[in-house]
Amino acid sequence: MNIVLGITGSIAAYKAADLTSQLVKAGHEVHCVMTKAATEFITPLTLQVLSREPVLVSLEDEKNSWKPGHIELADNADLFLVAPLSADTLGNFANGLAPDPLSSIYLALPPETPVLLAPAMNGKMWQHPATLRNIEQLKEDGCQFIDPAKGDLACGYQGVGRLAPVEEILAVVEGC
Ligand SMILES: Cc1cc2nc3c(=O)[nH]c(=O)nc-3n(C[C@H](O)[C@H](O)[C@H](O)COP(=O)(O)O)c2cc1C
Repeated sequence: MNIVLGITGSIAAYKAADLTSQLVKAGHEVHCVMTKAATEFITPLTLQVLSREPVLVSLEDEKNSWKPGHIELADNADLFLVAPLSADTLGNFANGLAPDPLSSIYLALPPETPVLLAPAMNGKMWQHPATLRNIEQLKEDGCQFIDPAKGDLACGYQGVGRLAPVEEILAVVEGC
């Protein structure tokens, strides 16, 4: 499959390296698209090497082709996967905002493209009415969620909010 893998600004972003590596080993073509916040947690170079593809971070990077790179990625994707998905980008998707390549690709996807979202965040953020509202909206819009797991959170608390295990995400991808 041709997979667009979105990575956002979560402490769990480092797990996207393992996810990318395993998806490539499974024979998928992986195009990583990072938010600027995600680059604080893992470098584009790491994902570029593991995916063997250029990594898109900024709309200003798209100077090599007449067709905007993010539209081409949206047109060609067999699957749009975001892991980890932050509360912020979740809000962008739910409200149709497109401030960066990742949210722009989400909006530009052909309607039949499957969307898999694996959120990761602090437990209170996960349970906030605004987050729950955004999740319900996205489910209504046809997105599938891989819910976060319970356990120790990076913020020092315990609760639901950890990124689902990479093995679980891989299993859901293979079922698409
Ligand atoms: C150390 C640290 C860890 C963070 N972890 C998360 C997280 O797991 N989930 C989340 O939604 N936001 C997290 N944030 C906040 C996001 O990075 C912030 O909301 C950012 O604006 C998200 O931008 P993006 O959605 O464009 O990636 C964290 C911030 C810091 C400084």
